[in-house]
Amino acid sequence: MTGIAVERLTKRFGVVDAVVDASFTAESGRVTGFLGPNGAGKSTTLRMLLGLIRPDAGTARFGGVPYVDLPFPTGTVGAVLDIASAHPATTARAHLRTYCALGGHPVQRVGEVIDSVELDRFADRRVGAYSTGMRQRLALATALLGDPEVLVLDEPSNGLDPSGIVWLRTFLREFAASGGTVLISSHALSELQNTIDDVVLIDRGHIAWTGELSELVATGNTLEEAFLSLTDRAGVK
Ligand SMILES: Nc1ncnc2c1ncn2[C@@H]1O[C@H](COP(=O)(O)OP(=O)(O)OP(=O)(O)O)[C@@H](O)[C@H]1O
Ligand SMILES: [Mg+2]
Repeated sequence: MTGIAVERLTKRFGVVDAVVDASFTAESGRVTGFLGPNGAGKSTTLRMLLGLIRPDAGTARFGGVPYVDLPFPTGTVGAVLDIASAHPATTARAHLRTYCALGGHPVQRVGEVIDSVELDRFADRRVGAYSTGMRQRLALATALLGDPEVLVLDEPSNGLDPSGIVWLRTFLREFAASGGTVLISSHALSELQNTIDDVVLIDRGHIAWTGELSELVATGNTLEEAFLSLTDRAGVK
């Protein structure tokens, strides 16, 4: 199966070191949380993974292949970086049909992904009238059209209500249990505590820690407490 390997990725914007020498992996069959505070460099890293930003140095590979060199990218990697992509006057079903055709996927995937993200009741409504949670589900459905082995999700639980968060957790756990690879970012560290197997902590552009969640919280610490002690931020507001 297809894992993710990031090696020594670096990106500077002017004087801002957004990401510095970042290396980590995300394994298939597991959900990896990419966690860090606002401005830590999560989105920049994920955008470099997907070839949307050119790194100053380093590589990111899916099953050994950079995203831009994948023969059938949407069939390998499903990504949700930004949920504001559907036109407000269109319906979810029409949006998905367009992206299905663009990606060259069989048209029955539209109905399948609507079922997968439980958007059936809303699929024929205009996207402009959607709640944030419905938009998140539509974005995820779009990413799933190519039946990818890997999911890269930037803060997908933003705007989800508690039942939406439970739904997302169940969905991602099942995706990983069937052999998929999930890399999911969040600035709300504890929100993913029951969702993830592995943790990549990033702080001020630097990877502060990688490993299994169980190691990090073995001492009974919350993820927030573990983050503070690992990043020398204890006592700093
Ligand atoms: N296009 C850009 N131009 C200039 N600076 C940028 C750009 N994109 C990001 N940055 C800077 O790079 C740093 C990392 O930003 P990034 O968006 O990757 O953080 P993040 O971890 O995703 O934060 P958040 O939790 O708020 O989404 C920040 O200092 C940000 O201001
Ligand atoms: Mg971000």
